[in-house]
Amino acid sequence: MTSAAGVVVVGGGQAGFSVVSALRGAGYDGPVTVFADEPHLPYQRPPLSKKAHTEPDGVRVDLVPESFYRERDIELRLGEGVTALDTARRTVVAGTGARLPYEHLVLATGARNRPLPVPGAELTGVHALRSLDDALAVGRALATARDVVVVGGGFIGLELAQVAAARGAHVTVVELADRLLSRAVSPQLQEHLRDRHERSGVRVLTGTAVQAIEGSQGRVRQVVTDVGALPADLVVYGIGAVPRDELARDACLAVDDGVIVDEQLRSVSDPWISAVGDCARHPHPHADGLVRLESVQNATDQGALVGRRIAGASAPYASLPWFWSDQGDIKLQIAGLRAPSDTVRLVAGDSAERLAAYAFRDDRLVAVETLNWAAEHLAARRLLERDTPVRAADLAGSTLGALARARRNAEVRA
Ligand code: APR
Repeated sequence: MTSAAGVVVVGGGQAGFSVVSALRGAGYDGPVTVFADEPHLPYQRPPLSKKAHTEPDGVRVDLVPESFYRERDIELRLGEGVTALDTARRTVVAGTGARLPYEHLVLATGARNRPLPVPGAELTGVHALRSLDDALAVGRALATARDVVVVGGGFIGLELAQVAAARGAHVTVVELADRLLSRAVSPQLQEHLRDRHERSGVRVLTGTAVQAIEGSQGRVRQVVTDVGALPADLVVYGIGAVPRDELARDACLAVDDGVIVDEQLRSVSDPWISAVGDCARHPHPHADGLVRLESVQNATDQGALVGRRIAGASAPYASLPWFWSDQGDIKLQIAGLRAPSDTVRLVAGDSAERLAAYAFRDDRLVAVETLNWAAEHLAARRLLERDTPVRAADLAGSTLGALARARRNAEVRA
């Protein structure tokens, strides 16, 4: 029996979920199938390096219950990875050997952790942190860990460092670059972030390379760095992610650190294939050239855009990028995309905890990073989504919150 070809989504993460929920929400009534190589219902990743370890009963991470899919006739093929695409026959091939035809294929395969390239990385007690299974294993290890070494001072490393410190462990973050969060945050804000981590008791070593991890009887015992050995009974590493774009590459679609798509998020090589979320490299009105973004916002908005497009309503992708990271009591939020050449101005809020870094390009506000200042982050999102530019002079002695209110009042009066 051959079934009618519908939409096949490869990947059951935030982006894949967003595609299928938007498809049905927009009235698509053809077959919808999701292949997901993990055995779990689609879940949220952000809590896995944060709340999942500090709330008394953990947190539920399922995006929606199983009934959501059943009621909408969405077939979830959990624990079943796709291993090849036959683009000529518009068919996917699963690891089980099963083949399924598609009318539209959406790649929502996400990213995988960069492996830690040192001897000893395979010892018991050394963990990556990306999947729910990783988080469960880290959670069990945290229950008894005393000396925790976190390799990588990016989002995952700093979140987990605070979780471990809150549970009473001695925590050292080992970062190869000369500052924390060098990929995502301006140097100006980074100094303050480091200071806050150090004040909370986390030791931070920047410009430090891990040379090896040593153990005894197969269990981690210490991390050897170029400035000496650090005792460790738990090592967690988060040294960046790489897109899972090999299905597309093997199928000869255009790939360059991500599946290359157009402004509608269609593969530039094949109009029947789209890519969304961490695995997609796309044009964006806020970026110079193509970008690949790793964030919940991007996964959700891109998935929804493709779901709606397949259901009949197309629009170019232009959502404002935003990011957040909860590192213990430190709440980092970012709106917009900063480039290294932008001019950054640091401004303190009305309480000691609040801080904002405003990034300007050609005297136009393009990105805002905040620490513990949610209202300013939300105002930044509102203003950056509008066409009216914010100039440095507009902010003299003012906050974005005040400016957003003033502009809104002016609109109401007009
Ligand atoms: N040793 C130590 N640090 C390293 C090494 C290394 N060998 N290699 C890279 N690093 C550092 C980088 O300099 C960077 O500061 O690891 C950090 C990685 O930070 P991110 O790029 O933020 O990546 P990660 O924390 O792993 O998060 C991966 O998960 O939460 C999401 O949005 C997040 O997409 C990101 C992903």
